[in-house]
Amino acid sequence: MEKQKATLLIRNIKELVTTEGGIKPGSQMKDLALMENVDIACAGETIIYIGKDAQQHVACDNQTQVLNAQGKVALPGFVDAHTHLIFGGDRLQDWRIRMSGISYQGIAQKGGGIMRTVTETRKATENELFESAQNRLHFMLHDGITSFEIKSGYGLDFDTEIKILNVAQKIKSSCEADITTTFLGAHAIPDEYKNRRNDYITLLCEKMIPYVSTHKLAEYCDIFCDDGYFTIDEARQILTTAQKYGLKAKIHADELKNTGGAELAAEIGAISAEHLIYISAQGIQQMANKNVIAVLLPATSFFLKSIKPAVRDMINHNVIIALGTDFNPGTAFSPSMLLTIGLACYFYDMHVEEAITAATINAAYAIGLGHKVGSIETGKQADIILFDIPHYEYLVYQFGVHKPTCVIKKGIKII
Ligand code: NIG
Ligand code: FE
Repeated sequence: MEKQKATLLIRNIKELVTTEGGIKPGSQMKDLALMENVDIACAGETIIYIGKDAQQHVACDNQTQVLNAQGKVALPGFVDAHTHLIFGGDRLQDWRIRMSGISYQGIAQKGGGIMRTVTETRKATENELFESAQNRLHFMLHDGITSFEIKSGYGLDFDTEIKILNVAQKIKSSCEADITTTFLGAHAIPDEYKNRRNDYITLLCEKMIPYVSTHKLAEYCDIFCDDGYFTIDEARQILTTAQKYGLKAKIHADELKNTGGAELAAEIGAISAEHLIYISAQGIQQMANKNVIAVLLPATSFFLKSIKPAVRDMINHNVIIALGTDFNPGTAFSPSMLLTIGLACYFYDMHVEEAITAATINAAYAIGLGHKVGSIETGKQADIILFDIPHYEYLVYQFGVHKPTCVIKKGIKII
């Protein structure tokens, strides 16, 4: 049989760290597939060979780019399952007050919080939002994030929500990363609707969701279902409307208090429930029964000086866990999956293998990309990052130090 022609050959990988065979529920999250002293060959965007002596199994010629990994450790490109990447301004003013001991909810009641960012985002042009996102993107790619989700949610009116989603589409077509988009028009009740919240919900259900769906601006619809934001009944109404329009449901659930968001996610067949700091035992069981992915965001707990969720219980009940940065100006101002993985281990009691699985294959499934990214397997897209460390555990053992020395996206070395 004729050998397939390689366009990229990565030689001398000392340790290849991946998962095999799709999504990993709780108890399987520790099962990494480790290979030592291997090569990876790619044809275009696709991995065609993983193993010893690639040159004997694939065809190489002078057009094949050969990359000597020089004994580095290879992982799949990280997948960030939850970001609020596009926003105007910052929240330094809120942060100062919060560091003096005022709570997140207390700041929101005093006019800060999400509404402060909404004001800045409404003022910004599409170009300004695109430009400010570029710096954040640069950091993410250098951190090894090669696929991620972008949520809207700092517009809270028709024009600004669409402006944000248009910027997201522009980023999607100009950035090397794979990106999925989520409509989060239900991030908060905007100030102008404070005394007529039902009118805002009608606007979401009758105008914004149909428009987002018809114009294919997002694949998912999310809602901040929590104390002081949207109630369970409102979330059910908005998310089931979105589902009728072909958007898949995600929920910011049980972040500030337990309000039953995890249970609602299971009831309506949401793809994921996210945050879950205050998830109940019943919520854990129901999410496990319905395969709702728990997207955990340890940087948010850390940044808000909050508590950790019952992560070991989730894993013991076989809940599928994914990780995200939650990058946003108010509750997690760091778009780093390496930091998130470290916090998942030190603060959320995950084992390093579980955290890697959650930051790669499970996160890929949480944003609908599990079939092509999130693991290094033949037939999948070649998204590979290399680290100059003796063993993968160093990523967490020697925390806060390592960045990938090489990032390969769709079979091309971009860093
Ligand atoms: O994921 N919880 C809702 N949304 C963001 C916070 C938004 C903000 O404070 O700007 C979050 O934590
Ligand atoms: Fe969030």
